[in-house]
Amino acid sequence: MEKTIDEKKQGNSLVMEPKAENSRKLFIESYGCAMNFSDSEIVASILSKEGFNTTQKLEEADLVLVNTCSIREKAEQTVRKRLEKYNAVKRINPGMKVGVLGCMAERLKDKFLEEEKIVDLVVGPDAYKDLPNLINEVEEGRDAINVILSKEETYGDISPVRLQTNGVSAFVSITRGCDNMCTFCVVPFTRGRERSRDPQSIVEEVNELAAKGYKEITLLGQNVDSYLWYGGGLKKDFKNATEMQKATATNFAGLLRLVAEAQPKMRIRFSTSNPQDMTLDVIEAMAEHRNICDYIHLPVQSGSDKILKKMNRLHTREEYFELIDNIKKMIPGCGISHDLITGFPTETEEDHQDTLSLMEYVQYDFGYMFAYSERPGTLAERKLEDDVPEMVKKRRLQEIVDLQQKHSKLRTERFLGQTVEVLIEKESKKSAAHWSGRNSQNTVVVFDKEHYQVGDFVNVKISDCTSATLIGEAVGYSDNN
Ligand code: SAH
Ligand code: F3S
Repeated sequence: MEKTIDEKKQGNSLVMEPKAENSRKLFIESYGCAMNFSDSEIVASILSKEGFNTTQKLEEADLVLVNTCSIREKAEQTVRKRLEKYNAVKRINPGMKVGVLGCMAERLKDKFLEEEKIVDLVVGPDAYKDLPNLINEVEEGRDAINVILSKEETYGDISPVRLQTNGVSAFVSITRGCDNMCTFCVVPFTRGRERSRDPQSIVEEVNELAAKGYKEITLLGQNVDSYLWYGGGLKKDFKNATEMQKATATNFAGLLRLVAEAQPKMRIRFSTSNPQDMTLDVIEAMAEHRNICDYIHLPVQSGSDKILKKMNRLHTREEYFELIDNIKKMIPGCGISHDLITGFPTETEEDHQDTLSLMEYVQYDFGYMFAYSERPGTLAERKLEDDVPEMVKKRRLQEIVDLQQKHSKLRTERFLGQTVEVLIEKESKKSAAHWSGRNSQNTVVVFDKEHYQVGDFVNVKISDCTSATLIGEAVGYSDNN
């Protein structure tokens, strides 16, 4: 699964293995980023101890939870529409309780209970351990809310139940919150200050996944390169740590090495990197370990120095190029993707041209592109007028999408004639006779199933491609099985 599960896609209700002793039914669905999907697994784990099994049938649920996203206005509208659907179902199932989790819960707080009559329960991203109490309240007929953000909570002590069904790839969260304060972004307000999870608990989770047969993990954080464990505490308080804590701290490169060496056959991915925090040490750790995938999601947001500054992205275009040059030199053929925003306040045609020329320089494998959406409470909303007309934002967006399409095609064509290692994840959406998986660079590969199985590492010779997919033929198992 890609790093961003765009809100345009339908929310996903996923199920866990049921426990025989559990009789209550939980319907849980997630919108937005991978972190939300990972959080829903923590929530399902907490509620499994409260007698809940998951269900995919909304109509039979005792409790419906929706894990929400606030990143753009459209994401919030999607969730509002979903609430209308729950409302309709409640007419046939009046006992059903509805709770809102995640970023919208944190942003809107008790306004949710006022505005949406269907909602009984509002729980922010750091308050999931309070769910059992809150559900009791709701069952006694009261609305319940907890949106307190925490300085310590990392859920490191909770073993998530896996809601993804392929049994091959899993998310492992390593940090929570974000301290970067990009001026367009609502995340620092909805997910609080940045804190890192104990590396030991991360390695243990990865070991457990390996024992259950998982073959690939994605380490998740809003800003993974800023991971820093010094015995607990906020990232911003590290300066006050003791000399001993400073000397024994683990940074992201250190964590990557720990995980890669604990499970040398496990494929390791991570998301998301912020260019201002990515160090050469991280790229070195990637280059040293075969099992760390040759792929970096490196959002840039804009190619214009003026706009980068207004966005509070703490690097210049030149520094970004330097980082890209280092990646290309140290990890030849590395897959690189981006996030870009068009129409940030004051963006001129010239700034937009800078974005296009940055794309030409990097030649990204793929990217996630968005028109700027003003978010209440952010610095940009308070200080800058949303002055680029919607039509101009959309036209610029189309131009970067078209250019990306051209680059994606060039990037997939580079694999023609090559043999790449693929981890089989699932059946191809387009054909029951084909498997679908990804190579190390994160490009999707489809090929004839033959005798291979989900979870196998297979060498595939690439004979054809589209801008998004490689097509080939298996030539045998890889030596990673
Ligand atoms: N560090 C995070 C970024 C979260 S937001 C991560 O782990 O992915 C994902 C992307 O959404 C951002 O990189 C940015 O390109 C886009 N985005 C964020 N706020 C936005 C806004 N107000 N309008 C449009 N796009 C936005
Ligand atoms: Fe948002 Fe910037 Fe953090 S995009 S999540 S404030 S790195």
